[in-house]
Amino acid sequence: MSSQTQIITLITGAERGLGFEYAKQLGKRGQHIFIGAYDMKLGKKAIADLKDQGVDADLVNCDVTSQESIDLAIKTIDQKYGYLNILINNAGLGGPQSKPSETTSAALHKVFDTNFFGTVAMTNAALPLLKKAPFGKIINVASDMGSLTLASDPSSMLYKFDAFAYPASKTAVNSMTIAYSKELKDTNVTINSINPGMTATDLINKKAFQANGAQGVEQGAKRAVELASDPKNDLNGTFTEEDGKLPW
Ligand SMILES: NC(=O)c1ccc[n+]([C@@H]2O[C@H](COP(=O)([O-])OP(=O)(O)OC[C@H]3O[C@@H](n4cnc5c(N)ncnc54)[C@H](OP(=O)(O)O)[C@@H]3O)[C@@H](O)[C@H]2O)c1
Repeated sequence: MSSQTQIITLITGAERGLGFEYAKQLGKRGQHIFIGAYDMKLGKKAIADLKDQGVDADLVNCDVTSQESIDLAIKTIDQKYGYLNILINNAGLGGPQSKPSETTSAALHKVFDTNFFGTVAMTNAALPLLKKAPFGKIINVASDMGSLTLASDPSSMLYKFDAFAYPASKTAVNSMTIAYSKELKDTNVTINSINPGMTATDLINKKAFQANGAQGVEQGAKRAVELASDPKNDLNGTFTEEDGKLPW
């Protein structure tokens, strides 16, 4: 069994986009990264790219909509290290750009299966390993689009956003953060939501993101990386971005 001095970090959906950037930046800070990959071909490429940049990482297959896949990923980490310090629930899907009344229940289920139910299932599976570590942190990659305060404020640009499935799924993630933070408050494990801000990735449409002035992944990764690399573990049940606190 290891001495538990090495910080072990699992990032879901880390074969590309923000997840890959978290892996790169946290790996360079000395954390041992497990890339939880949905697409193993991209996952292998991600591991090779990280190696080229001096980051040693492991690859585990992790489809957050499959309990079997989640359990196998956790079992692999358990067998190799026996604990986990940081879980970044990053895996996510964009949803259709449709009005609420035009959003099919199939589309809602698809987005919620990954963004909400997948995040909850991943968290429950990882909790025993997080509790075995000297400290445990769960970072939920939410979105300002999940903020009910901003979505209902006519002076916010998010008020004008028509889509329904994606923001609703991120509101549910924020609700989950609050609920778990209360359950975990007397343990070694914290849970917080973060917003990366609009970042040019493949999530919806990279070109459209770029045309709308989206930031690059290095900038988008900042808040999660800051939280994950903070030696303190005293934040619990918060929703923040790089510029500070966000309203629920
Ligand atoms: N980009 C933004 O502006 C922005 C803003 C706020 C929040 N976020 C959040 O940031 C997170 C990362 O998004 P991103 O922008 O980096 O998008 P991305 O490049 O599309 O990355 C999302 C990742 O999640 C993976 N994924 C999808 N379904 C999965 C599943 N069932 N199990 C495991 N992994 C799965 C994807 O795998 P495949 O590549 O195989 O599909 C991909 O690697 C998401 O939670 C997103 O909601 C993004």
